[in-house]
Amino acid sequence: MADTPQETLANLLSEDRTFPPSPEFTQAANVTAAAYDEAAADRLAFWEAQARRLDWSKDWDRVLDWDNPPFAKWFTGGELNVSANCLDRHVANGLGDRVAIHFEGEPGDTRAVTYAELLDEVKRAANALTDLGVEAGDRVVIYMPMIPEAAVAMLACARIGAPHSVVFGGFSAAALSSRIDDAGAKLVICADGGFRKGKAFALKPTVDEALESCPSVEQVLVVTRTGQEVAWNDRDVKWEDAVGGASNEHEAQPFDAEHPLFILYTSGTTGKPKGILHTSGGYLTQASFTHHAVFDLKPETDVYWCTADIGWVTGHSYIVYGPMSNGATQVMYEGTPDTPHTGRFWEIVQKYGVTILYTAPTAIRTFMKWGDDVPAKFDLSSLRVLGSVGEPINPEAWVWYREHIGGGSTPVVDTWWQTETGAIMVSPLPGVTATKPGSAQRPLPGISVDVVDEQGEAVPDGGGGFLVIREPWPSMLRTIWGDDQRFLDTYWAHFDGMYFAGDGAKKDDDGDLWLLGRVDDIMLVSGHNISTTEVESALVSHETVAEAAVVGASDPVTGQGIVAFVILRGQSESSPEHLAELRAHVAKTLGAIAKPRQVIIVAELPKTRSGKIMRRLLRDIAEDREIGDVTTLADNTVMSRIKTGLQGGK
Ligand code: WT7
Repeated sequence: MADTPQETLANLLSEDRTFPPSPEFTQAANVTAAAYDEAAADRLAFWEAQARRLDWSKDWDRVLDWDNPPFAKWFTGGELNVSANCLDRHVANGLGDRVAIHFEGEPGDTRAVTYAELLDEVKRAANALTDLGVEAGDRVVIYMPMIPEAAVAMLACARIGAPHSVVFGGFSAAALSSRIDDAGAKLVICADGGFRKGKAFALKPTVDEALESCPSVEQVLVVTRTGQEVAWNDRDVKWEDAVGGASNEHEAQPFDAEHPLFILYTSGTTGKPKGILHTSGGYLTQASFTHHAVFDLKPETDVYWCTADIGWVTGHSYIVYGPMSNGATQVMYEGTPDTPHTGRFWEIVQKYGVTILYTAPTAIRTFMKWGDDVPAKFDLSSLRVLGSVGEPINPEAWVWYREHIGGGSTPVVDTWWQTETGAIMVSPLPGVTATKPGSAQRPLPGISVDVVDEQGEAVPDGGGGFLVIREPWPSMLRTIWGDDQRFLDTYWAHFDGMYFAGDGAKKDDDGDLWLLGRVDDIMLVSGHNISTTEVESALVSHETVAEAAVVGASDPVTGQGIVAFVILRGQSESSPEHLAELRAHVAKTLGAIAKPRQVIIVAELPKTRSGKIMRRLLRDIAEDREIGDVTTLADNTVMSRIKTGLQGGK
């Protein structure tokens, strides 16, 4: 077997560059290698110890109830208030004057909100929601730009036990109404609009349109952000009146550990969106612990910045619940990285002295494309930990991130997880792991992740297959809202007793994990499974390439042929010789079997609002078909530009 092309392919992309943490970092790290041993010795005792990092009003009877798998209950009988864990206890501990949020609006307006001020506002908002008739268990949809009120709204819902469902502000009226409907929401909290790419965009009209078909909604609470003209209906209430006028006294009442905290919809590739349900005690335990462990947060001195939007799970776990439960000081930025200039992120890092930065590979590759000279103009020396999430990070992008943003010395943590997992599952620990560019490496302590073959058998080191989770974890989804059967079919029907994540992965010879993208994106070329991620990484390792998206197009000879769409770096230009060189470069890096049939130079790629490449649409181009549904694209005109570019280039 050792000489089959597949084996060759699996071994060629294993990295030999590793970057151990400095002795000083290890010395001061929040979590040491002992955590792996403790969790291996007694997994439930380990999670119990992490739950003790939170304040509970009532202790639990059982750490895990797995009597009716896969329906898990964690910390059963325990009671806590999630919002009080994020706010009240810090203020009670004398930390009320610490800045919770350094808000940076896109137009340049700023606000520093302390923990005491945030608590005050959340108490008012909780009272306002109660006055509007929202009770524990009622669902509230939040449709907001990235402003502090978005976090206030979430924490106020959590405080009164009303599960929130945040819908990303870039989604259309149709997407919003289907989510409101599925959740059966009683109230919508929105803003008039927000600022993006130098302009005010409107949110309120989209809510009005969505509500034409949502009978469950009784009222709409509207924050003023842009001050633009909006239509006003009988059901609309101004945030400034309702929250501003409410009392700032509010005692947080404890809820059961399994009380629903939020529903978050994931679109997936097909079918109607799935409402992923997360509950309180286990979710907060793992969000809080992983934030403490993976980012090594020292709340007294660190300035943390996660660039995600609150509409994604990253914003839930690593802007609101993880960081705030740990008493972090963080930056919240409203806008895009290129407004008003391509150095905006680095200007923000310099201005606030950001020490921990958490962003996505799509952003990192964009920064590479904009050029090394952009970050070089700013003082980034405050940074000490860099994180990545959302898709596999190409080794070259990883190295670029460490070199050009991290000054060649910061640990880079590549964190694998999903909306469904609620919190980080696979990641290096910055004070422990010798990091390896492109690999998410090891399951965190207390997490049991494996790679199995089609029969569900664990693959040996050096092998590839499907990523699964073997044991329940505290922040796991509890079900799909209103659809237990779909929960069972989607995640638990593929392999007996294991959670199927839908991602391909391999273990390298050291046993480190490499994520290979969604299983649907894996190509079958002449009988060999080739991951789009590996070919993309090979292309990005060429000095002229900034970003690549690879698809398998049906091919009469090979089954599927590899077609690569490539964005060039900075000033690079292409020619027939250059295209041939790129194809040869992939063959040299991965093996001849992975050589693209065709390389197409483009100026942009079709991406969803969360930055994931929509390979399905590129496959339509590669197979010369009508382009399919583009409604979830961040910019739905990009496909016609790509097509026109191709015709113009011929
Ligand atoms: C899917 C989950 C988790 C928050 C953001 C996305 C991909 C995520 C990584 C990573 C390789 C990754 C997977 C996963 N993914 N992080 N570090 N390396 N792939 O949440 O929208 O639920 O997407 O994103 O394919 O299944 P999501």
